Amino acid sequence: MTAFADQTCAALATVSGCDLQVPLVQGGTVRYANFDYAASAPALQQVTERIADLLPTYASVHRGAGYASHISTDCYEAARGSVARFLNAADDQVVVFTRNTTDSLNLLAACVPGDTVVLDVEHHANFLPWTRHGRRVVPIADTIEETIQRIVAELCTKPAALLAITGASNVTGELLPLERLAWIAHQCGTRILVDAAQLAPHRRIDLRTTGIDYLAFSGHKAYAPFGAGVLVGRRDWLDAAEPYLAGGGAVRSVTADGADWALAPQRHEAGSPNVLGVAALAKACDVLAELDEATVLEHEQYLTHRLRYGLKTVPGVNFLRIFRDSTDAVGIVAFTIDGFEPGRVAAYLSAEHGIGVRDGRFCAHPLLSRLGVDAALRASIGLGTTAADVDRLVDAVATLVEHGPNWDYANTEGHWNPVPETRPFADTDSGAAPCGF
Ligand SMILES: Cc1ncc(COP(=O)(O)O)c(C=O)c1O
Repeated sequence: MTAFADQTCAALATVSGCDLQVPLVQGGTVRYANFDYAASAPALQQVTERIADLLPTYASVHRGAGYASHISTDCYEAARGSVARFLNAADDQVVVFTRNTTDSLNLLAACVPGDTVVLDVEHHANFLPWTRHGRRVVPIADTIEETIQRIVAELCTKPAALLAITGASNVTGELLPLERLAWIAHQCGTRILVDAAQLAPHRRIDLRTTGIDYLAFSGHKAYAPFGAGVLVGRRDWLDAAEPYLAGGGAVRSVTADGADWALAPQRHEAGSPNVLGVAALAKACDVLAELDEATVLEHEQYLTHRLRYGLKTVPGVNFLRIFRDSTDAVGIVAFTIDGFEPGRVAAYLSAEHGIGVRDGRFCAHPLLSRLGVDAALRASIGLGTTAADVDRLVDAVATLVEHGPNWDYANTEGHWNPVPETRPFADTDSGAAPCGF
């Protein structure tokens, strides 16, 4: 905590929207305080620059003879190397580009030759795809230790092909001991998949040393919001499975009667790929890999602690937590406030303070039910977050609890909005505040 233990903890990287001015319902504007990194993180400046550089040579991938096609193809294929280096992937692990984590997990679900064991804390993306393919749900206990014992019991009682587990909870940020879980799974003849949608943007992951067999994450949560995701994993299941999509690019040759399918990764990448999204994701991996790991961790932990300590002083604030014995979490703080509906609080923070948080059930309904809350607020932190942002959020929550909102809010079809709504909503083409760097 030393380097950041003052009032001026600044952003660690320049991200798009860091100077964004947003209108307030009571009039005037304020700098946007973004606490929604866990949903979609803003683009790193280097990612935006990379896309701008590539646009002139943007062309078809794998199929064109033109110069620009060569450049685009090289850039697309080189991106696999960036992702593999970022994760220290093993030699038999291939990098398949997808649309997002959900896509990656659905892809893998169709390749698994047997049952998949999951916990009931998962984001729906790592819960629903397995339903169709032999899903066995292990209910969590209130400690990580006891939960691991339940996983062991499940895997020992009946063989499973895969243990599909989240690296960091999208609700509370809590981390599971992945290396240990990989070891346990392997002892039982089971492979392990990590849903790293929340982990990869925050922590370095080493596939070789942890023994993780498959890993999925999304570019848009890792500072590359251009529509690409990734599945990295062992080749054999991916080569043996039916192609995820049938179409051009996934085949070696086609006759009137059938097709000779390519091996992974092309096997699962039919259709024209998202070359710019993939280039963005690769650039983000390169930039994140270059950042000093200890500094990133310190920045995030400092701000997370500051936020927690600040909110703790506000009467009625309750934090969500899954495991009694968890000791580490990424920069996500989920909470409720006694007497205040989360959606209304989120609307208030946005309308009166220019602060963006997430409210609801976070696509983790089983977990929220288990935690006994219908909905909550979630503030998530990233490389562009500052101490000033954190203090604004704490102050805004404290003001709400002490004085109530200064505006009226109404719930229409499940969404809270200020009444009257005075803020102009326009896209950037029609004059909304520009995103400056
Ligand atoms: C832990 C986790 N897994 C999976 C997903 C799904 O990611 P995407 O919407 O990018 O497919 C999310 C999204 O919030 C997530 O937090």
